[in-house]
Amino acid sequence: MNPAKDENGERDRREYSIMEMELESLYLVSQILSRSLDFRETLHEVLKVLNDSNNLQYAMIALLDENSGDLLVTTLHASPTPFDLVRYRPGEGIVGAIMCSGDSLVIERLAEESRFLNRLGVYDSNLPFIGVPITIGDHTAGVLAAQPLVGLAQLIRQARFLEMVANLIGQSVRLAKSVEVEQLELKSERDSLRRKVRGEHGFSNLVGHTRNMRLVFDQIRQVAKWNTTVLVRGESGTGKELIANAIHYNSPRANGPFIKLNCAALPDSLLESELFGHEKGAFTGAISQRKGRFEQAHGGTLFLDEIGEISPAFQAKLLRVLQEGEFERIGGGKTLAVDVRIVAATNKALESEVQLGRFREDLYYRLNVMPIHMPPLRERSEDIPDLVGFLATKIGKSQGRELVVAESALGPLMRYEWPGNVRELENCLERAAVMSEEGRIDSRAISLTGLQSGFSLLASGSGVSSVDIDDPDLDERERVIAALEQAGWVQAKAARLLGMTPRQIGYRIQTLNIKVRQI
Ligand SMILES: Nc1ncnc2c1ncn2[C@@H]1O[C@H](COP(=O)(O)OP(=O)(O)O)[C@@H](O)[C@H]1O
Ligand SMILES: [Mg+2]
Repeated sequence: MNPAKDENGERDRREYSIMEMELESLYLVSQILSRSLDFRETLHEVLKVLNDSNNLQYAMIALLDENSGDLLVTTLHASPTPFDLVRYRPGEGIVGAIMCSGDSLVIERLAEESRFLNRLGVYDSNLPFIGVPITIGDHTAGVLAAQPLVGLAQLIRQARFLEMVANLIGQSVRLAKSVEVEQLELKSERDSLRRKVRGEHGFSNLVGHTRNMRLVFDQIRQVAKWNTTVLVRGESGTGKELIANAIHYNSPRANGPFIKLNCAALPDSLLESELFGHEKGAFTGAISQRKGRFEQAHGGTLFLDEIGEISPAFQAKLLRVLQEGEFERIGGGKTLAVDVRIVAATNKALESEVQLGRFREDLYYRLNVMPIHMPPLRERSEDIPDLVGFLATKIGKSQGRELVVAESALGPLMRYEWPGNVRELENCLERAAVMSEEGRIDSRAISLTGLQSGFSLLASGSGVSSVDIDDPDLDERERVIAALEQAGWVQAKAARLLGMTPRQIGYRIQTLNIKVRQI
């Protein structure tokens, strides 16, 4: 028997079991930290491990608050009383000192440490204290500290152990912060995209101040609030899709999806799978399950364009979803329920389609709950100057230059009938813009688009312009131009229309900077 050897063996065993314990703790800590990116939650558990397995009591973590530059105690283990928000300025107390120097501090007896502030009010001043920096890259991002319940001989190894834990914490905080920053960036990008989409689809891009357009805007405002089905009616190119957009983006569903489907573009069989989706293997080519537009639009709005074009068989299927809000995917037995607001559009006279037996009456009533009629452009030609300005800016943007529309272009544009409505006007301006190298659209550029050849004079019986010169919405300049148009640009005649003398109109033409067309 050799007592010295025995003692050594005993110490080795103790050392070994402490090392094992530390290794086990490091393993646990790394597991906890990798489980979640919410470090406020995981850090609590980390401190619990230190307390339960490693004789480290009142373990606490203070992290740098980037806004104030102070250290904030974020986590404290087993505080006997709930702790108030405690902060240390860099250099303040033991924690602030570690923050400044970036070095660990091992104190054998707290009472002998002059920097000790006991702001948390939990520590036993007769015991030792260890604080280590939490570093991210090359800067100190916080402090991990605890009061060890071990003999002095163990202090240095405890400090080493805490440094390892602090390194793990540093990595996890760094990762969480970078993800947080990324998420914030994504969120702000999403919000700004949302604002942009709203701007593009709100009212600001709906040009029109004539009485019939103001009525349309009022209707949109009214109807947007509710879930009512809306049927937008009007000739092609009058802005029906724009209206559907405006309804969605001004409704409580604005943050939900806005899904479109052009019913005229697809044959029945495809239309069905587009709208209702299909299960894997439902038909040849259905290689995987697919959600239909109805499901995609859940919580939002589904825009069914050209609804007048669907076959009677399909009308029956659609009616069921509209009535019951339920449907099945093709090849699927499960009935799905969705919360979708329907906006439909058509340029067809659905009433006569119903009479001819081509459109189901019940579906017609179901859709026509709240009709909005888009006036054709020829019935609101007073809006043309504004539309031209708006569209020229839009086209200019897409061409990366500024387009100017000369006064001389407006006459021909206002006299044309526009059977293709705003879309045709937009196309015409785009062509004119392409023709004009310096970005100035004048009557010559307009005539180059071939518009003149398609001319049919508006209201041919009564004159040239249908603008009502007594319309209170016209400003002075618009009124004078309208009168000149109607008078075939004979100033004396225009003056009579306006109840002015030729001198007065001449003066206004000059001050309002109206370019007089020679005829
Ligand atoms: N009131 C309006 N203000 C500005 N642009 C309009 C207006 N009405 C239509 N447009 C434009 O005209 C084009 C055709 O509109 P769209 O909504 O597709 O018509 P529809 O669906 O009735 O055929 C689009 O480029 C649209 O932006
Ligand atoms: Mg359309």
